[in-house]
Amino acid sequence: MLLDFTYYNPTRIYFGKDSLTSLKDELPGYGDTVLLVCGRNSIKTIGLYDKVISALNNAGKKVVELSGVMPNPTYDKMMEGVKLVRENDVSLILAVGGGSVIDCAKGISVSAYCEGDPFQKYWVEFKPLENKVVPVASILTMVGTGSEMNGGSVITHEEMKYKAGRVFPSEAYPRFSILNPEYTYSVPEYQMVSGIFDTMSHLMEQYFSGDDNNTTDYLIESLLKASIDNARASLKNPKDYEARSNLMWSATLALNTVTGLSKTQDWQVHMIEHQLGAYTDCAHGMGLAAVSLPYYRYICPYGIDKFVRFATEVWGVSNGGKTKEAIAKEGLDALEAFTKECGIVTSLEELGATREMLPKIAESTIIIGSGYKKLTAEEILNILEACF
Ligand code: NZQ
Ligand code: ZN
Repeated sequence: MLLDFTYYNPTRIYFGKDSLTSLKDELPGYGDTVLLVCGRNSIKTIGLYDKVISALNNAGKKVVELSGVMPNPTYDKMMEGVKLVRENDVSLILAVGGGSVIDCAKGISVSAYCEGDPFQKYWVEFKPLENKVVPVASILTMVGTGSEMNGGSVITHEEMKYKAGRVFPSEAYPRFSILNPEYTYSVPEYQMVSGIFDTMSHLMEQYFSGDDNNTTDYLIESLLKASIDNARASLKNPKDYEARSNLMWSATLALNTVTGLSKTQDWQVHMIEHQLGAYTDCAHGMGLAAVSLPYYRYICPYGIDKFVRFATEVWGVSNGGKTKEAIAKEGLDALEAFTKECGIVTSLEELGATREMLPKIAESTIIIGSGYKKLTAEEILNILEACF
């Protein structure tokens, strides 16, 4: 039976080669002062920075800037942005970059007028969002997180060694997002495949829970197949517009909440990766890939029918004359082979982890319990050891 739901997504998407032209139409609706949030240098290298500044100047905006947002954005960086918003009475936060930049922008938006410590309130205690939020918009340059059309903001508190994700309500979603697949041509292959695995992980986290005849599961299977096919095409030719645009839209759909509707979801892999990231600062998608295979192999017996469906529907495994266990294993083997084919790093050592870190990562991981098997900290440690 489908679970009841309410669906609303307020983000207006402008998609395509000329989508940046929409910026001038949107800007008049958002006050006088824009905080431009960006990463270290990629948007300058691809010439996007100059185009955005020119559009902002033409619209008569005062521009303040928070640059140097790092992958796995930190609480300290977010608080630099909070200061800029308050000092300059910022009326729009424009994020130009990947998920880290957009997440940092959303974090600034909800924190700027929060009383007390926003990290403690929103990312640790998960209190409801009560204060004023500053509108956020995004121009996406790296595909994977889906942050361009959702309320997620993942922030790392370095002192606490805690990487925490929070999904904020619709006021904190980007008001509009500009998606031009050509901006992603310059993303290094390492980051591209990390982002592709992130998309696939979002889909699998939503898929591997419950087992009803659910329209959402059919959608997820299609998006997984689109991601796999277009990953292969993009690896062959990074400037294949069709492939890059399909990857971009698949990633957005994979986490704009539509593929989680009406069903239970898991998210245990993300919880483990977040703490792995807190200790190693690894690329998010690579950390997910490292954890996913041992995790799915471990929980497979508890959700065997869904793993059989995954094998046959996503990977085309034939089921004639085989046991369920054999079919499910072939599906997970196919996922593993795909990660190798894409050059995805799945060794924790290569991602910067040491054996001494593993118990701390396991103990600090949030246990969700809505997948096929509720893990203990000891089981998480076993999974992490299997990734070494
Ligand atoms: O800093 P710059 O120079 O911009 O370089 C970035 C960065 O080094 C580079 N890059 C981005 N666009 C580029 C480019 N390089 C060349 N050309 C371009 N066009 O790519 C590197 C990685 O960028 P980042 O934004 O960190 O990657 P991603 O989009 O994977 O974001 C990862 C963050 O998002 C969080 C992750 O945990 C992680 O902190 N997530 C956010 C979610 C959400 N909001 O819903 C959900 C996800 O599950 C995830 O947890
Ligand atoms: Zn993710």
